[in-house]
Amino acid sequence: MSETIYGPVTDWATDFDHGSPAYNNNIHQIWDDLKAADLVKEIAYDPTRFSSLTPVVQQLKPSEALLEDPDALGAPIGPVPPISSDPPFHADARRLLLPAFSPKVIDPLRKEVEEICNKLIDDMGDVDAIDAAVQYTQHIPVLVVAQMVGLPLSDADRFRGWVDMVLGGIGAERSEERLAQFMAMDEYLTKHIEEHIANPQDDLTSYLLDAEIFGEKLSPRHVFGTILLLIIAGIDTTWSGIGSSLWHLASNPVDRRRLVENPGKIPMAVEEFLRAYAPVTMARMVTDDMEFHGVQMKKEDRVLLPFPAANRDENQFANPAVVDIEREENRHAAFGLGIHRCIGSNLARLEMNVAIEVFLKRFPDFELDTTEQVTWSTGQVRGPRNLPFKIKARG
Ligand code: HEM
Repeated sequence: MSETIYGPVTDWATDFDHGSPAYNNNIHQIWDDLKAADLVKEIAYDPTRFSSLTPVVQQLKPSEALLEDPDALGAPIGPVPPISSDPPFHADARRLLLPAFSPKVIDPLRKEVEEICNKLIDDMGDVDAIDAAVQYTQHIPVLVVAQMVGLPLSDADRFRGWVDMVLGGIGAERSEERLAQFMAMDEYLTKHIEEHIANPQDDLTSYLLDAEIFGEKLSPRHVFGTILLLIIAGIDTTWSGIGSSLWHLASNPVDRRRLVENPGKIPMAVEEFLRAYAPVTMARMVTDDMEFHGVQMKKEDRVLLPFPAANRDENQFANPAVVDIEREENRHAAFGLGIHRCIGSNLARLEMNVAIEVFLKRFPDFELDTTEQVTWSTGQVRGPRNLPFKIKARG
């Protein structure tokens, strides 16, 4: 990676600019050239040389990004534990979240997710042209996460705006407007936590306020960081996963018909959509000057971990560029590898399965509306942000 964080990239293996259209428009070719499974694994399993302190790369240097929030927790906890935490702290910060995302807790949410999806479709009315990203995919995860954390569902648009600021605005300069948005988010979540301290509820916020780490209650800043993480990690990711799946089904009528006729095949198809359209690329920070596979790295350099590229490595997957919704061997890396592997994978899979199942039941035939444009997000989470569809049949 070069000394400047951004700038023209001449070699995508040793440098990156994930805010650039040159990256977004050629992403599959760049990922294919990287053939990255082994390298991604090596970095993901090496938290000593590659820290998670700043897992999202912004225009700012790491030290500046932390300065933006003077109360932020430094290493090894990081501002949004556990994703920003390094060992040994990470294991404990992660362990306390696991029970809240176990299948026993997540599976019973199926009915609620079905209701959310059906209501979104009811709200579209009896039209034959929709934007499935704007009217469907973007709402599902935000409503689910808000409910879990105990945030008012009526504020869902605000949360999505913040997520967009943190993940989508990676190329944005430090600006007054951006700082004001950060402060508004800070104020909102701080108030939410204070209200839960005064009046505990049956939700994840009160669960975290009651939890202990090393024999002590979590600091309010830790609870704040983890809630912010769940909002950020739980929304754009799943929205992108559902969106890419529906985009595939709109573009591939044979696959769509196979799933309409055999809904039992949806879970297997979801795994293939996760592999082929893996939404998440994470970043690590180099902890010390070193040479890594012939590349000179400096302390505080950032490295992108393109899990989607690892999923396209032909040493791991037969015909990786082919989307085969009945792929048998599919140990993909969409949920990451190593100590930070996704905690929300049960929930993400549930949401993707239900969202696709309900959509296909209600709209058994649909296709891309070629008079309108499909748009994709830039940055570390990739998925469609506009999905113009023509609805051709209703169930
Ligand atoms: C399709 C949807 C999703 C994808 C593709 C995804 C992907 C990932 C990936 C790649 C990581 C590893 C990060 C790293 O190595 O630094 C991760 C971590 C994490 N994810 Fe997800 N995620 C999804 C949905 C969710 C949901 C719904 C939640 C919770 C509401 C969630 C919560 C987390 C948390 C808390 C971590 C940090 C774990 C740790 O640091 O130990 N994710 N996710």
